[in-house]
Amino acid sequence: MTIVLPHIEQMPGYAEGVQPLPEAGAIRLNLNESPHPPSPQVLKALREITEEQLRRYPDSRCEELRAELAAQYGVKVEQTFCSNGSSELISLLMKVFVGPEGKVAIPDPSFPLYHSVAAGYQATCIKVATRDDFSIDGEALRKSGAQAVVLVNPNAPTGLLLSQAEVIHLVEGMDGLVVVDEAYMDFADSDESVISLIDRYPNLLVLRTFSKSYGLCGVRVGYGFGHERLIAALEKGKDVYNVDAIARFAS
Ligand SMILES: Cc1ncc(COP(=O)(O)O)c(C=O)c1O
Repeated sequence: MTIVLPHIEQMPGYAEGVQPLPEAGAIRLNLNESPHPPSPQVLKALREITEEQLRRYPDSRCEELRAELAAQYGVKVEQTFCSNGSSELISLLMKVFVGPEGKVAIPDPSFPLYHSVAAGYQATCIKVATRDDFSIDGEALRKSGAQAVVLVNPNAPTGLLLSQAEVIHLVEGMDGLVVVDEAYMDFADSDESVISLIDRYPNLLVLRTFSKSYGLCGVRVGYGFGHERLIAALEKGKDVYNVDAIARFAS
């Protein structure tokens, strides 16, 4: 009897690469961990957690943090989503918008987690080669036939940044979803962020994370912005208590 589903048995799983133990004191650039500690205010907030707050389930809709993020980025709460790291948003992308037999396209090279997560959801991840200078070929992505396209901007591992105008060009040329993963945007010229465009483009979803520029990958909080319909769909697909109380206090 086969207990494990064949597509899971056959998939290679995510290869994290070499991970020296924290005691080795290495800066793990392959994980893009921050060499700097998080803000002292994070530890202060964590010390203030009460037993009562740990005894109770957290708010499943993450209202407080969503309201703070919405205010900070100038969008509506209904256009804001919080997740268990942005990795959960990548899983939800496959679960909610791509699905088994669906297709998602991503430049190659880029963040490889998208490939293994797609395989886990029986979706096809189409790798669209970058040009020789590693610049992203938007036309090839658009013509890939995928129902969703992912841009990591700035891209990892190349560090190349697409301008807002270049992202708009792709979004306007796509009928399907365009996901812009801005995990590293705080390190670039943030004027090129497309968060401010979610009102204009109902097929645009922007991913962010506290893991990189806030040095908080240990607590697992990601967030995303998009049209109300996209956010409502993500809310239906997520685990009920996807962001725990401790992560919420830290972020
Ligand atoms: C481009 C990109 N997106 C998303 C993630 C996931 O980050 P997290 O799940 O810690 O938010 C990473 C982590 O390395 C990344 O490099």
